[in-house]
Amino acid sequence: MEFNLKSGLPEKQRSACVVVGVYEPRRLSEAAKRIDKVSQRHLSSILRRGDLEGKPGQTLLLYNVPGTVADRILLVGCGHERDLDDNQYRKIITEAIRTLHETGSMEAVCYLSDLNVHGHNIAWRIRQAIETANSAMYIFDQLKTQKESMRRPLRKIVFNVALRRELPIAEQASYEARKIADSVKFAKDLCNLPSNYCTPSYLADKAKDLCLLYDHFSCEILTQSDLEKEGLNALLAVSSGSEQPPKLIILKYLNGKQDAAPIVLVGKGVTFDSGGISIKPAKQMEEMKFDMCGAAAVLGTISAAAELQLPLNIIAIVPAVENLPSGKAVKPGDIITSLSGQTIEIINTDAEGRLILCDALTYAERYKPEIVIDVATLTGACIVALGKHAHGLMSNYHPLTTELLKAGKFSGDRAWELPLWEDYQIQLDSHFADVANVGGRDAGSITAACFLSRFTKKYHWAHLDIAGTAYLNQEKEKGATGRPVPLLTQYLINRSHHEIAVEKNGED
Ligand code: BES
Ligand code: MN
Ligand code: ZN
Repeated sequence: MEFNLKSGLPEKQRSACVVVGVYEPRRLSEAAKRIDKVSQRHLSSILRRGDLEGKPGQTLLLYNVPGTVADRILLVGCGHERDLDDNQYRKIITEAIRTLHETGSMEAVCYLSDLNVHGHNIAWRIRQAIETANSAMYIFDQLKTQKESMRRPLRKIVFNVALRRELPIAEQASYEARKIADSVKFAKDLCNLPSNYCTPSYLADKAKDLCLLYDHFSCEILTQSDLEKEGLNALLAVSSGSEQPPKLIILKYLNGKQDAAPIVLVGKGVTFDSGGISIKPAKQMEEMKFDMCGAAAVLGTISAAAELQLPLNIIAIVPAVENLPSGKAVKPGDIITSLSGQTIEIINTDAEGRLILCDALTYAERYKPEIVIDVATLTGACIVALGKHAHGLMSNYHPLTTELLKAGKFSGDRAWELPLWEDYQIQLDSHFADVANVGGRDAGSITAACFLSRFTKKYHWAHLDIAGTAYLNQEKEKGATGRPVPLLTQYLINRSHHEIAVEKNGED
């Protein structure tokens, strides 16, 4: 979809549709007021008849509105003006876009970007409008032979910017939004692709593709024999039941100062998680194709960074495996020696994410990272704790927690902190090895992070548990969300603003 910005009057727009807001109860937004005026109170009279209360997401499509030059006017309910927050704004945009798409307008000029959203400026409103519009239009039909083709699909949206002098910052926001939206789509497509297509080798090929696509990229793929030589035995243990060869994917984007320590992003890439010998129940097991959403998110994020040409050094590491039972599979009670040298008693083969991650996190040490962030659909317990709204965030470095929470809030891709206290570590005591791979029923997300924390002592680290947020499974909304690409990309944008500020001030 194409997005443009302009600064103009709603009644002057020669367009298939002009979209304006109506607040509850039946109160016209600024743009709607102008149309009302030129149409001799046409909108007022419709509202007076009670056709639109202005509830959030309500829509009313009008034709032949006097005094205007557009084919249609779409009124969109915005709720009470004082309640217009981030979520409300996104909901309004989503409904507007879907209505346009379904009612034959192939392009539109949208004035909802002028609404007054609490605490946000035009740059934020444009960013969110474009990202939300892209999400609203997303479909995954690669594997359908009959594509649902629209006769008159929505192709182009122009968002209005009320003040002409704000056009430059709105343009910058629009640029960032389009790049982020592309990366979200990249991640969604990869996540939605089932495990008979999306194998560890497929993920490796995707990484290689990115490498060819962008400057400053280099890529390295470690194969089974490399992994054996290096001693990533925890990763190999998980992979041992599968016919699919494991991969460790390393993708570097080096566009910062030569001596600047990199930011390392580690993404869980279990292309299918059956649970292994500790096999999962059949119900909803198909969802375990999404167990590589962490991998998709870090690949998406590093490509967003490249698209935005951020002046940073970033390394994505993706341990990619399939977790299946077989005669060769690792068994409960088996003890393996991880890359770090610590021995692990595998009590439950379904706690496989932390096993591949612990070796990838140890591997990350060699890059002397400034920051390491891992992203993983790690625990069902995280869905119990936070539902489908927030990522679980745990970190050994408080300033990093603060920055990630902030980036999440700004991007509408929120995380929430859970405690990573020493108190929980004893749940991982093993009778036979240095550590057990599960910590019992209590605080499942925290003990999973506690396990990882034993492998991240040499650097500043944060863990995002995205088990609840990576995909939706409701009737209405199904499939990958592309999260946390917006959060991570925002974090990197904020980091590079810092870089640029330091440069300007002539600091070290
Ligand atoms: N991939 C799952 C976590 C998961 C569950 C993600 C549901 C999304 C939805 C992970 O590998 C897993 O199986 N975790 C176990 C850990 C347990 C054995 C300690 C879990 O959460 O049940
Ligand atoms: Mn599992
Ligand atoms: Zn898993």
